[in-house]
Amino acid sequence: MAKNSGSRASLEKDPHDVAAMFDGVARRYDITNTVISLGQDKIWRRATRKALAPKAGERVLDLAAGTGVSTVELEKSGAWCVAADFSLGMLKAGLSRNVPMVAGDAMHLPFADQVFDAATISFGLRNVSDFDAGLREIARVTRPGGRLVVCEFSTPVFKPMRIAYMEYLMKALPRVARSVSSNPDAYVYLAESIRAWPAQFELAKRIEAAGWRDVTVRNLSGGIVALHSAVRV
Ligand SMILES: C[S@@+](CC[C@H](N)C(=O)[O-])C[C@H]1O[C@@H](n2cnc3c(N)ncnc32)[C@H](O)[C@@H]1O
Repeated sequence: MAKNSGSRASLEKDPHDVAAMFDGVARRYDITNTVISLGQDKIWRRATRKALAPKAGERVLDLAAGTGVSTVELEKSGAWCVAADFSLGMLKAGLSRNVPMVAGDAMHLPFADQVFDAATISFGLRNVSDFDAGLREIARVTRPGGRLVVCEFSTPVFKPMRIAYMEYLMKALPRVARSVSSNPDAYVYLAESIRAWPAQFELAKRIEAAGWRDVTVRNLSGGIVALHSAVRV
């Protein structure tokens, strides 16, 4: 059994608690993700890159990039991609990936206005204490006409699947995490935060209200994950 080195945040999502929780998860973050998603994580990352469609010569922000596992996928496009995250533990765990990394909080990004052509946040927005403010902050650092893709857990569209998935989240996932994660309690938070997260349509409205237009939604794995794409106003 993996050693438990951690803590968990509450649904208040206090930034210190969230960062500390991810510090505790960092050591085995990548492998735990692959196990609990049954290998789907790679498919979701590839779909995120395709939806964002970065091009060589563009500057891309990968916010809440953690170990940089999402950033290396974006880099395959040839664009210049920077990983930003406020958990030093997560950034450190990904140092061998050799992607540019910046420590920073999504609520106060350490970047000038309109410097990015595109921005993405994978499995991060749900953890930001005021995610509407986070979306506005991403808009601030993205140029007008620049693109956004939010990759986040969502609500399965087919009711029987939704019921089975919620059972998995609340009962099986914490048990699986206990055998593989360095901070299993964090996966109880994961389950609770997914349950409390707005469904596809509601999140689309919130993105639009935060300075983005042309919001579209694509469900992955039946809506377990949704990609919200948008263009900076
Ligand atoms: C589930 S991990 C996602 C990592 C990576 N993007 C991926 O796809 O696997 C969530 C990350 O969001 C980061 N995070 C949460 N709130 C943040 C905030 N306010 N500012 C910066 N990073 C934040 C955490 O530190 C953590 O590394």
